[in-house]
Amino acid sequence: MVRGAMTRSLILALGADHGGVALKNRLAAALAEAGHEVRDYGTDGPASVDYPDFAQAVCAAIEDKQADFGILVCGTGIGMSIAANRHPGIRCGLVHDVTTARLTRAHNNANVLALGARIIGEEVALDILHAFLATEFEGGRHERRLAKLNQATETTP
Ligand code: RB5
Repeated sequence: MVRGAMTRSLILALGADHGGVALKNRLAAALAEAGHEVRDYGTDGPASVDYPDFAQAVCAAIEDKQADFGILVCGTGIGMSIAANRHPGIRCGLVHDVTTARLTRAHNNANVLALGARIIGEEVALDILHAFLATEFEGGRHERRLAKLNQATETTP
């Protein structure tokens, strides 16, 4: 990856539907090349599949502490982000640019990144991935806000 080293070595859980499989495979290759461990939860080909199945697998890996971060790719990223954010332990950012990639880590402590393969190009996706993994959570006032997200999850029917 030509975007500079991604600091420490991480375990990344990747998932995609048919709309995101090509980009997911490209990101997996870049991550492996950068020295990260990639756990690929599919899909593996162009056959039509249902994005919630792959969001579920990746989010379970994060909640079970089998991976540090999740990367989910579908056509728009929207379905994957909706599915992922139904998990109480998941904070998934749907990101289309480097700035929101950085801020969803710094402010939201996102542990899953959702991307839309039909919305952004491969180069933008690679830049987003680098920014997401290179940014640490800032903590401080953002901790209080994240705690309120968890309260909402517990009380909302
Ligand atoms: C699949 O056609 C498409 O609906 C899916 O990839 C995603 O964009 C859903 O949000």
